[in-house]
Order: sequence, then structure tokens, then C-alpha cells
Amino acid sequence: MQQLLQGEPCPDQAVNGLMPHLLHQLHAIQQQYRYIPTQQSKQVSETLQLPLAQIESVIDFYSFFTRTPRGQYTLLFSNCTSCGDLALMRELCQLLKVEQGITRTDGLVSIDETSCIGMCDHGASLLINDRVIAHLDSTRLKQIAEYIESKTPLDQWSPELFSINTQIYKKGLLLEQPLEQGSALTAAFKLGSDALIQTLKQSGLRGRGGAGFTTGMKWEFCRQAQGAQHYVVCNADEGEPGTFKDRILLTDHAHELFEGMTVAAYALGAQQGYLYLRGEYRYLVPHIQQVLTERRQQQLLGQNILGQQGFTFDIELVVGAGAYICGEESALLESLEQKRGVPRIRPPFPVTHGYLGQPTVVNNVETFVAAAHIVSKGANWFKAHGTEQSAGSKLLSISGDCTKAGIYEYAFGVTVQQVLDDCGASDAQAVQVGGPSGTLVHRKDFGRQLAFEDLATGGSIMIYGQQRDLLKVVRNFTHFFAHESCGFCTPCRVGTPLLRKYLDKIEAGHGTAYDREEMARLAKLVKKRSHCGLGQTAANPILDLLEHFPHVCEQRLLHQEYEPFFNLDAALETTRQLSHRDDAEAHLA
Ligand SMILES: Cc1cc2nc3c(=O)[nH]c(=O)nc-3n(C[C@H](O)[C@H](O)[C@H](O)COP(=O)(O)O)c2cc1C
Ligand code: SF4
Repeated sequence: MQQLLQGEPCPDQAVNGLMPHLLHQLHAIQQQYRYIPTQQSKQVSETLQLPLAQIESVIDFYSFFTRTPRGQYTLLFSNCTSCGDLALMRELCQLLKVEQGITRTDGLVSIDETSCIGMCDHGASLLINDRVIAHLDSTRLKQIAEYIESKTPLDQWSPELFSINTQIYKKGLLLEQPLEQGSALTAAFKLGSDALIQTLKQSGLRGRGGAGFTTGMKWEFCRQAQGAQHYVVCNADEGEPGTFKDRILLTDHAHELFEGMTVAAYALGAQQGYLYLRGEYRYLVPHIQQVLTERRQQQLLGQNILGQQGFTFDIELVVGAGAYICGEESALLESLEQKRGVPRIRPPFPVTHGYLGQPTVVNNVETFVAAAHIVSKGANWFKAHGTEQSAGSKLLSISGDCTKAGIYEYAFGVTVQQVLDDCGASDAQAVQVGGPSGTLVHRKDFGRQLAFEDLATGGSIMIYGQQRDLLKVVRNFTHFFAHESCGFCTPCRVGTPLLRKYLDKIEAGHGTAYDREEMARLAKLVKKRSHCGLGQTAANPILDLLEHFPHVCEQRLLHQEYEPFFNLDAALETTRQLSHRDDAEAHLA
């Protein structure tokens, strides 16, 4: 168990080696001024030689950048069902006499909420000027309020407030025996890149970020693609509420991650890699930079790595700024290219047209760690564990109503019930597998297996005990998606806020059976018609709730009977007459 004390945050120019990047420049300005003044945007435009319009659009896209000043102490409370508690936020607002979302008139403090900050194993948590404070309770809030009112600089606050522990309750294939540094690279050089990719394919490794694409095939497609440069990108955006396993890998196993990325570079012939880290984990930057420096000193990065003539590779760190959609791989690449994180139209896929239009492999943190172990220990070692379609193990981030929230590594195929028994969850009524975009599992289905062929998961397991109001849970998820929608396509941009409204109405006790039916219809439309994975999965919690927990909605409805209060098809009759159309297409089915 490693305890990481967060160091004093500093503007990006001062963080050793952080590359010049629009997000870093804007972050430094936001830190200094507490917002982004137009004059500064113009200056950045000149420095980075980017159009001002691009800079302005980026400022509006990422939630950590603002155009009006935030407080000298900016506090963002997580609103996640596992690491959020908005009652505590309201308590602190009262203590500091500040309104949510409005900076106090003396400019000292502002308080607002934000999406899950990945501290679900630490109870209620917040971000304060890029640092994390977890285990919030009334005592801690009073302490925080006193420090703020007395204008005590953050580095003079009790360090204990900022301590983040790594709780690993169950170790398996990856966590049990850490890799010796350089061992996977030595094995890769012995194999050569073709055999290395074959080994990965034989191992059956599938991506750990959620979609489960076969890693060996992804690397092979990328290797075969023509391009001036090939790139390796690690997706450490980890924004799915309830997920924090990548945070633990970055804290305790960063060497193995970078070894995996370097092995990928060797296989692809890439010279440059990027680690895209979510902004909420900025406190990890000094630690990650330190590991990168060590690897450069040990000849594990840089030129002629481990004496392999001509093999040159290095890794840069890019830190996001509060946008869940940037976890979607093509949105991530846009963000790396200093743009808004809007998902691209695919195909073409990143393996042929990725970063700067060049062949690029994007993998999850855990995928790279697993790849390093496989290359070092062999395909059979890995394949001997798990199920037929899901080889190896999976790291689970377990949180919610259980006694031992933390990290568990299981061979694929473990049942939900087994997981619940191990983490001390005796009265679960439901488990959200794979985060809000995943599956809401009823207790009658706790015998189901965690595996790609049954319940796929990127690693988030959120447990809800009998006392939880599942309507509130699903409403929370729906608010999350509406907030995080990037706005590019209409079904998601318009559909997710409408779904949010329906749930608000039903939860407030004003909904009718008609609202429920309309919500179900809209949910299916958003799922079917949205451009990317966010919209395609945003309605999953609603559809699961209606299918498996119909009583939860039923008992909140004002009227049970079906009562359409407005007939849209009839209302369109005048338009049909004016346009001389009465065909099927002119009617709402
Ligand atoms: C809205 C959205 C958010 C995502 N967030 C993440 C993430 O935080 N981390 C991640 O590895 N993959 C995330 N993904 C999946 C990536 O698009 C991509 O499939 C993954 O990075 C590929 O790596 P893998 O093959 O190793 O899983 C997300 C997908 C969507 C649609
Ligand atoms: S589905 Fe949502 S997040 Fe994805 S592109 Fe459309 S608006 Fe953006």
C-alpha cells in the first residue's frame, strides 16, 4: 500500500519537462488569474501560433477553464454516487457564506460540483486548486473553512488532509509479481516485432478500456499502416464514474505502464508516445515525471534503448481539463492536437489515421501493463487464466455500499456474487457494472460472470444497498451524461437533457405513465442514433431500470393511466396540408 502525499501544485511552466501544449498554457493562466482573460488568450494564440477562435472554443469546451474569475480557493465537490456528497458541499457553502457556482464577493472562494473525480474508494471528495481532499466529513469541512478564512496557503495546510492511500485487497496475475524493469523490453528484442505481435494475439489480450478490441490485432493493423510517423498513446483519462484502477496503476505500477508503451513502440516502429492524463489526477504529475526521468536515466527511454541500435522512443505527458468525452479515443486525439475533444467520424480508425493523421495505437493503462507482462512471461501464462473469450485478469475498482472499497484483481469469469462476498457487500439490491455506461444488474442476476461474453466492464463496480433509491442513482447518471455530452450530434445533445428532465419530473413526483413511456421511447432513440459511445450508452441506466426495476419508477408516478396531454402528430396536420404531403414519412410513427 503506497501513500502518496500531493506536492505543491505549480503552474505548468514550472513542472519539469511538461510539453508546451494549449491545455497546459490555459491551465497555467487559469491558475494565475483564476479565469482566462481575453488578453491572455491572444498571447497564447501568438505563442502557439494557433487561431484565436480555436483557443476560445477550447476554453468553452473544458470545464476546468472559465471566463469569469473563480475564487482564490476553488473547490469542486464530486457529485458521483460513490465519491460525492452534495449535502457536504451545501454545508461548506453555509460555513463560508458562499453560493454554489458564484464566487464570493471578496474573490476568496468559490464552490461548485464536478463529475466523479476518481476517488470512489475514499468516500466524499473534492478538488481544491488541483489537489484532492478525500474522506470528507463535517470535522474536515470546519478545518477547511478555517484555513480558507485565514487565507492559509495550501502548502501550510495539514498534509494529512491531502493523503491518498492505495487500497489493494486482491492481487492476481498483474499485481502479484511486479515486472523487473527492462525485462519485457529485453524479451521483446529477443522475439522481434513480428513474433511479439503474434505472442500478444495468441495471449488473447483484449483492451481493458471497455470496448475489448484484441490488442495484438490493433498493434498489427497499426504496424502495417503507412505513415511518416507511428504514435503510441496511453488513455489515462479514466472518467467513467466509479473507476479508479488506472489511478492505482499510475501510482504503484507506472514503470510497467511505460514498459508496455515502449514495447508497443518497438513493435510499431514508433518514436513518440503520449500519456493523456485526466485533469483530476494532476496531483500525480510530479510522480509520473519522476518515473519518466528514472527511465531515461536507465536507458529505458531515449536513444538506442537498452543498447538496441536505432530504437529511439520517448513519452510526453498531456494533462486534460475536465471533459469525460476525452476518454473516447478519437476525442482524446483531438484534445492531444490542441482542439475541442469532439469524437471523430470513424472510419478511418486511429490505427491508420490517428494523432496528426498518422497511424496510432491508443490503449488503456491496464492494457499496456498487461502487454508488458505477456511479452515477458509468454502467451500461455496469460491465457491459462480467465474464460474462452476473455483471457487473463481484470482489475476492478469497487465502491459503494460495501465494507472494503478498493482494488481487486480477478481472473475473468468471476461472478458478481463472489465479488460482493469478498468486498463485504451483504445487502446489495443492485450493482452497476462498467460504470453508468454499463449494466445495472439486479440481485437475481448476481450469478452472472464478469467477462466480455457476459458482463463486460472497464473496471467500475458500484454497489447499491437496499436503502438506496435507485431512481436517484439513475437520475444522477443521466445528469452526468447530459453534462458531459460534447454537443456535436443532435440525438445526444438534445436527447440527454430531455431524459434528465423526465427523470427530474418523475423523481419530484410529478411524472405520469405518459412521461415514462416517452422517456423509454427517447432513451431508445438516443441509444440508436447518437454518433459516439457516450450517447450510445447514456440511456443504458434508464432502460435497465425500466426493465429490471419497473416498480422503482411505477411507485413515483402521479398518474398510472396513459395520458398523452399533447398529440404531436395531430399538431402537424396543418403543416402536412400546407406542404401537400400525407405520406407515411410525413407522420410520426
Ligand atoms: C465516452 C467514452 C469514454 C471513454 N473513456 C475511456 C477512458 O477513460 N479510458 C479508456 O481507456 N478508454 C475509454 N474509452 C474507450 C476508448 O475509446 C478506447 O476504446 C480505449 O482507449 C482503447 O483502449 P483499449 O483497447 O486498451 O481498451 C471511452 C469510450 C467512450 C465512448
Ligand atoms: S454522442 Fe454525445 S458525446 Fe458523442 S459526439 Fe454525439 S453529442 Fe458528442
